[in-house]
Amino acid sequence: MGQPVILDSVAALRRWREAERKAGRTVGLVPTMGALHAGHISLVKTMKGMTDKVVTSIFVNPTQFAPNEDFSKYPRTFEGDVKLLSQVGGDAVFAPQVAEMYPEGFATTVSLDGPAKVGLEDAFRPTHFAGVATVVTKLLLQALPDKAIFGEKDFQQLAVIRRFVRDLDIPVEILGGVTQREADGLALSSRNVYLSPEERVLAPTIHRVLTNAANSIREGVGIAQAELVAKEALEAAGFAVDYVAIRDTASLAAPKIGASPDSLRILCAAKLGKTRLIDNIAV
Ligand code: PAJ
Repeated sequence: MGQPVILDSVAALRRWREAERKAGRTVGLVPTMGALHAGHISLVKTMKGMTDKVVTSIFVNPTQFAPNEDFSKYPRTFEGDVKLLSQVGGDAVFAPQVAEMYPEGFATTVSLDGPAKVGLEDAFRPTHFAGVATVVTKLLLQALPDKAIFGEKDFQQLAVIRRFVRDLDIPVEILGGVTQREADGLALSSRNVYLSPEERVLAPTIHRVLTNAANSIREGVGIAQAELVAKEALEAAGFAVDYVAIRDTASLAAPKIGASPDSLRILCAAKLGKTRLIDNIAV
């Protein structure tokens, strides 16, 4: 397959998008921060089946990282990313500069409530979703895609994006993509490269523990008890647990008493050494 066209400015993206519109073609957007893996690529493949052209954005967004987080050491592998995208028929790559996305004097963020304030990622990364919402709003307005896709791996992020897109009447259809995993269950993540060989062996414990918790809920164990057992199992394996929480899938709020297991999602964030891993599964 051919090489994707590289769009390195908003003007270039807009020209490309407008040409596709004039040609009567639909466009799908796959926002990423690069360091692409099979999880990102599965989103591109899904979008290839849904729109005529697919643009993947690659932008490590500084505003969603807190000062103590890994912005400067976040993996950047642009050439490899473009190669992967060329192999699956990615049509365009949008790779803007920080200075263009956030010019001198930039002063606007999207203010969020609802799924952005349920005490999961927001409790540990209080400025994170404002940064995500601001950059995703910008990307959607820059690319004006017919559809955009986000992974269930970042389940709260997906819920936040669905919410503000609806609340702000942004004319785009938001799709969710299933979490891609290693054979041992570890969810693919650009941050997995931070894991030492010893940590990499332990990392799939998260998926195992979440699976056990989901099974125990289906067998009638109470929510608080299942959360506690899961947290203790992770701690016993050497994780520092931020949260293990069983929530209503749609709102991410605490489930109502007697809620059906079918309506529940179990979400987790835990650190292994310096690496923070997140994952979630349906109960
Ligand atoms: P990033 O972490 O690069 O992820 C880009 C997209 O890939 C997100 O929608 C994420 O949920 C999805 N993804 C990550 N790992 C996945 C996996 N194992 N299976 C399926 N999908 C997976 O998420 C972001 O970037 C940023 O916050 C962004 C939305 C681009 C805004 O800056």
